[in-house]
Amino acid sequence: MRHLIDPMDFTVEEIDQLLEVGDDIIKNPQKYSQVCKGKKLATLFYEPSTRTRLSFESAMMELGGDVIGFSSADSSSASKGESVADTIRVIGCFADIAAMRHPKEGAPMVAAMNSPIPVINAGDGGHQHPTQTLTDLMTIHQLKGRVDHMTVGLCGDLKFGRTVHSLITALSRYEGIRFVLISPDELKIPDYIKEEILDKKQIPYTEVQSLDEAMPELDILYMTRVQRERFASEEEYLRLKDCYILTPEKLEHAKADMCILHPLPRVNEISVAVDKDPRAAYFKQVFFGKIIRMALIMKLLKVTPAPFDHEPENHGTECRDTGDVINHLHCDNPRCITTIEQELPHSFRMADEKSKTYRCIYCENPVQEK
Ligand code: NCD
Repeated sequence: MRHLIDPMDFTVEEIDQLLEVGDDIIKNPQKYSQVCKGKKLATLFYEPSTRTRLSFESAMMELGGDVIGFSSADSSSASKGESVADTIRVIGCFADIAAMRHPKEGAPMVAAMNSPIPVINAGDGGHQHPTQTLTDLMTIHQLKGRVDHMTVGLCGDLKFGRTVHSLITALSRYEGIRFVLISPDELKIPDYIKEEILDKKQIPYTEVQSLDEAMPELDILYMTRVQRERFASEEEYLRLKDCYILTPEKLEHAKADMCILHPLPRVNEISVAVDKDPRAAYFKQVFFGKIIRMALIMKLLKVTPAPFDHEPENHGTECRDTGDVINHLHCDNPRCITTIEQELPHSFRMADEKSKTYRCIYCENPVQEK
C-alpha cells in the first residue's frame, strides 16, 4: 500500500502525473465530482490547522466523498494516552484514507507502519510537510510553466519550517535549481537537509542574511513564518519574530515575473500592501493546494478516471531509503515521536559510514555510534 510521508515517497514521474491530473481537474471539474462516492477521508489533526485540514476536507467533498475526523488532540483519545499505532488501526475500520498532522516528528510514519489504509503526512512537528510541497510545486508549475531551472529563495525560519524542508527535498530532483537560503544564524536550515540533500546531490546553494541582496536574482521567493510553537524560549522567539518583513519597497529590486509564495498563515513577514502586487501568489497557492490534494487522494485510493490505473514509467529517479534499520541506538531529539511513545523501538539507518553517523527513521536526528 502506498502512503505519502516524505516528499521522496513519490518519484518525479509520479509527481509530474499528479501535476497533470491537477491541470485536468481545473479544466474539467465535473469529470471528478463523483469519483470518491462512498469513500471516506479521516482527518486526524493533533495540532492546529486551518488551510491544510479544510483543504483536505473540501478536496474529498469535491470528489464526492465524505469526511470524518478530529481537529485537536484534546478531542481525540490521544488525551487518554492512546498510541498513534492503535488510533490508526481503529480509524482503518471507519475510513478509506487518512491525513494526519502531529506535533511529534515521525508520528505519521509510525501510523503508516501500522495502517490498513493509506496515510498522508499533513505536517509532523518541524520535520516535513509533503502535501504543502505538492501545493508549492503545483503553484510553480501553473504560474511559471515549469518546475526546473530556477533560483529559489527561501526566507525566514528555515530551521523549524517543515514546508521549507520538504520543498528543498522535492526541488532537489529537478534540473537547474539553485537555492538562496535567507535566514538569521539562529534559524538556518538543519544539517540533515544540507548533508543528505544539498551536499550529496551537489545542488548549488548559498546561505545569506540579507533579503535585499538576494532579491534581484530570485525567480521564486518563498517567505515563511517564524514558528513560535517550536521555540524552547518565548524570549528567543520575540527577538527573531520580525527578522524579515517583505514590503513593496523591497520588491522594487525583484524580477518583474518573480513569484512570491508563502504556505500561510502569515503573521508579519509579508506586509498586506504586498497583496496587491501581481507577483503575490500566496492566495492562489491555497486554491492549487485543494486541487493537488484531490489528485493525491485519487492516486492513493487508486480511483478512476484519474489515469492512476497505470503507474508511470520511472526513469531511475531516487526515492526515500526504506532499507535495513538498527535498533541499538537512542534518539535524543525532544520533538521525536519516540519521546511520547515508550514502546516504539528507536530505529536508525546508516547516514555516513565513515563517521558512523546514523539517522532516526522517524525524525532524521543524527546519532553517532561510539
Ligand atoms: C504551514 C505548516 O503548518 O507548517 N502551514 C500550512 O500547512 N499551510 C506553515 C506554518 O504554519 O507556518
